[in-house]
Amino acid sequence: MTDFGDGLEGVVAAHTVLSDVDGAAGRLVIRGHALDDLAGHWPFEAVLGLLWDGFFADPPARWDQALGAARQAVYAEVTALDDRLLSTGLVEAVRALMARLGDGESVDLALRLVAAPAVFGAAAIRIAAGKRPVPPDPGMGHAADLLRMTRGGAARRGEIDALDAYLVTVADHGLNASTFAARVVASTRAGLTSAVLAGLSALKGPLHGGAPGPVIDMLDQIGAPQNARPWLEASLARGDRLMGFGHRVYRVRDPRADALKRAVAGLAADGEDVTGRLALAEAVEAAALAVLRQRKPDRPLQTNVELYTALLLEALGFPPTAFTAVFAMGRTAGWIAHAREQVAGGRLIRPQSVYIGPRADVAA
Ligand code: ACO
Repeated sequence: MTDFGDGLEGVVAAHTVLSDVDGAAGRLVIRGHALDDLAGHWPFEAVLGLLWDGFFADPPARWDQALGAARQAVYAEVTALDDRLLSTGLVEAVRALMARLGDGESVDLALRLVAAPAVFGAAAIRIAAGKRPVPPDPGMGHAADLLRMTRGGAARRGEIDALDAYLVTVADHGLNASTFAARVVASTRAGLTSAVLAGLSALKGPLHGGAPGPVIDMLDQIGAPQNARPWLEASLARGDRLMGFGHRVYRVRDPRADALKRAVAGLAADGEDVTGRLALAEAVEAAALAVLRQRKPDRPLQTNVELYTALLLEALGFPPTAFTAVFAMGRTAGWIAHAREQVAGGRLIRPQSVYIGPRADVAA
């Protein structure tokens, strides 16, 4: 007999000082700060410093400068980004390049691992579009440089702020599937690269960080607000899950959805024409919540982070094939903090299973 769910729901598997996900109240706290006080207010580099505070013996004096130098350091690997690697998919190509960084526990490697998805992701987006990669500018902020490396030209202040808000919003989120994977690998003392690659591999699945690409497919197929309800009903009737809805922990609206919706609204205020897309997303959201309430009255299914992630990253010009890699650009900060926390205080993670197969010693 087992006394746990197949998805380990409700099982507590770590003590952490990094983040607290309050699923009943819909609150996310990152090292003592409410998400709303960080997203849109702190640059990504500052949240990186917050998450990693105390986890390295020799932290750099300036996280922004150190991350800029790390972007420059990893750029050399971009030459390995060939057609064969790109044909495996964007996040897979980024993962393969990250594996070239070697393993270890140093703060220099940690910074290169955070820089890598941004530098490799931007280069992969450009090469896939038939353009030449753009080298990093170590003197710029991380979000600004990421947009510049992706587009080949400077972004507007409003766009940089919106991307910064996104990277901060997704930087850490309790013991989600990818962070758990990263902690398990870190617990064997395999090294930071191994832990981060485990996290990235878990992230890319459509039930986790792979959802925002399919959200765009859903919005495109729905096309207009009046089509939302019949499309969603048909989708559920086929047994599909609605991407961007539902969460293991939140029983109310995911607070990250509102942080990102605000970032999308900020883009609109900055002159970006997102009105039509935002109206469609809001209509789809209202219809989806109504249909889910009707179909699953016992299960409070709400909007998660991915609906407005899709809208924001699309408005910033990222192709949907790159959304998961952009998610990883933020979440790597959290994976590394958790990996260091696990190594500092934790033991090998090695749970047990209950054998329910046939036994050789029992006669049939
Ligand atoms: N659409 C339709 N039905 C849903 C959805 C959904 N989005 N989410 C859950 N349900 C249903 C399930 O089918 C299940 O019904 P059943 O009991 O009849 O089988 C019931 O609600 C309970 O769902 P669970 O599977 O227990 O929920 P779980 O906690 O395992 O899953 C998950 C959470 C994976 C996020 C799920 O809600 C889902 O698949 N959502 C769509 C994908 C998505 O948006 N993923 C991004 C999550 S956020 C992140 O990881 C960054």
